[in-house]
Amino acid sequence: MGEAIYPVPESWASGALVNAAQYQDRYVRSVNDPEEFWREEARRIDWIRPFTRVKNTSFHEADFGIRWFEDGTLNLCANALDRHLAERGDAIAILWEADDPTEPERRITYRELHEQVCRFANLLKQQGVGRGHRVTIYLPMVPEAAVAMLACARIGAIHSIVFAGFSPDALAGRIKDCDSSIVLTADEGLRGGRKVPLKANVDEALNQCPGVTSVIMLRRTGADVPMLAGRDVDWHEGVASQSADCPAEEMGAEDPLFILYTSGSTGKPKGVMHTTGGYAVWASMTHHYVFDYRPGQIYWCAADIGWVTGHSYVVYGPLMNGATTVMFEGVPNWPDPSRFWQVVDKFGVEIFYGAPTALRALMREGDEWVKKTSRSTLRLLGSVGEPINPEAWEWYHKVVGERRCPIVDTWWQTETGGTMITPLPGATALKPGSATLPFFGVQPMLVDNDGKPIEGAGDGCLVITDSWPGQMRGVWGDSERFFQTYFTTFPGLYFTGDGCRRDADGYYWITGRIDDVINVSGHRMGTAEIESALVAHSRVAEAAVVGMPHDIKGQGIYAFVTCNAEVEPDEALRKELVQWVRHEIGPIATPDIIQFTPALPKTRSGKIMRRILRKIGENDVSNLGDTSTLADPSVVDHLLANRPAT
Ligand code: WTA
Repeated sequence: MGEAIYPVPESWASGALVNAAQYQDRYVRSVNDPEEFWREEARRIDWIRPFTRVKNTSFHEADFGIRWFEDGTLNLCANALDRHLAERGDAIAILWEADDPTEPERRITYRELHEQVCRFANLLKQQGVGRGHRVTIYLPMVPEAAVAMLACARIGAIHSIVFAGFSPDALAGRIKDCDSSIVLTADEGLRGGRKVPLKANVDEALNQCPGVTSVIMLRRTGADVPMLAGRDVDWHEGVASQSADCPAEEMGAEDPLFILYTSGSTGKPKGVMHTTGGYAVWASMTHHYVFDYRPGQIYWCAADIGWVTGHSYVVYGPLMNGATTVMFEGVPNWPDPSRFWQVVDKFGVEIFYGAPTALRALMREGDEWVKKTSRSTLRLLGSVGEPINPEAWEWYHKVVGERRCPIVDTWWQTETGGTMITPLPGATALKPGSATLPFFGVQPMLVDNDGKPIEGAGDGCLVITDSWPGQMRGVWGDSERFFQTYFTTFPGLYFTGDGCRRDADGYYWITGRIDDVINVSGHRMGTAEIESALVAHSRVAEAAVVGMPHDIKGQGIYAFVTCNAEVEPDEALRKELVQWVRHEIGPIATPDIIQFTPALPKTRSGKIMRRILRKIGENDVSNLGDTSTLADPSVVDHLLANRPAT
């Protein structure tokens, strides 16, 4: 199969921050002499007390540990705000676009943002929040979400953002896991013209969370919501009396900055913990080079702050680089499928970073929605969250970017803090569907199932052989789980959970998760989580969930469900279970298919044979492989004969 290759455009080759030769040279230095390389790169951060020790890391059990710049101190909020005030205080930090296009935008300068953050940080302090305390943030995409994050960073509190699309139960689980005593929320959120009852969700969640003593609520829609005296504080009333002076705490490089819950292959979502110094270096540096960012440029990352992309590339990375970052409350296709490109025109966006799932949905609506907008300011496009299929890549390149804009397809994870395998626009020839080459300091390797390295071109499990500054440092509240989850499958190596191919040019092609995680519209879901939601229903005995190909979402959710003996499953129960899962986890976990079955295919030792279910989910049933170890092979015939129409 002939692969398309897009060389670096002339205009980029000469003017970029990093060209091809520089990439090669610096990459080699970054892996041969990491101490020196990172000592230099870390200068982009204003340290309060400079570090003397750069890297102190090991992936091996005997001396396992990950520490970067460990004796340095800094404040991330000061790096994102205070240090820009003298020169860029009146530059726009946040350009906010509301869900409803008729509502006026908000333009917040660095000086204004600094003031809002300081006032809000003082309100947090007044509510008893201090260094190391966990603050749960359950807010829509409004500037106050960034204010809240930065205020936590300023006073050394650890934020835990819960995506505002999660259910009360999912929210409660995350509040309890990190034991936070304060929740920041809004009366309601707005998305695609619909209201999301955030405060009501918080109230419901807090029935299970007696440890929460304080709720700060932002009025977004002005809905009439009950306020609990002694617990609930109105955001604006609360900040009104606060001083605009709030000194930034001096934090150690390895002090926690945030927790973000993400799904793994087993158990409940884990609190991925990032610390301050290494993350600051990684988020700002990757944003700088990958987007070739220069102060003054209008930059838009269309991710929600509920996901890691929103942390690193809506808020922290861009603000540390003095960027003007666009924050968008709405969705790509409301009021119509031109919405993204209208926002691009309205603000003169130069760099746009979005998810393949949104592109596929827009592509389906036809080119006219794109073509009726100008997009003449765009010069660079990005993709993140899931593999981008070559067809969507070509459409993005040709129709959205009019062949003028390179596409940076960035592979990374909540765990990695920032981009890991990615093109640099002035350095890397592009191949549609490939995340291309490793970023500075990143050492990918492919191994087979036994952990044997694969040299040259080949297919395998993607691991990373050595630490990088943005790496997660632990799973909140479970010191064993970090090492267990990521470093025991292939001892001495960080296992990503992804499958990957490397071609003859050394380019990496992520093929998707090879563990029990599925990627639905760029959102990570553990199949185990959906299964436990299903079995929590009183009429369900057992459930197994697998991914299935889906044109728009990338992967959809296929659930095999066995009901309790006396239950006769029907369409009404199917609908009820769909609603049930939405209520237990949130709408992003909505099953696409529920297949009722009297039994699941199990080995004689009682283990569900997921391999077979995955094949059925993928509609690849011509060769189901060896089924001889099944306790009852007729179960498979029954499953095949009763597959619901898709
Ligand atoms: C997938 C999102 C292919 C991958 C930043 C990874 C990708 C998981 C890409 C992490 C990409 C992310 N190409 N696959 N450019 N970006 N993925 O933690 O499977 O929400 O392991 O982080 O998304 O998802 P997470």
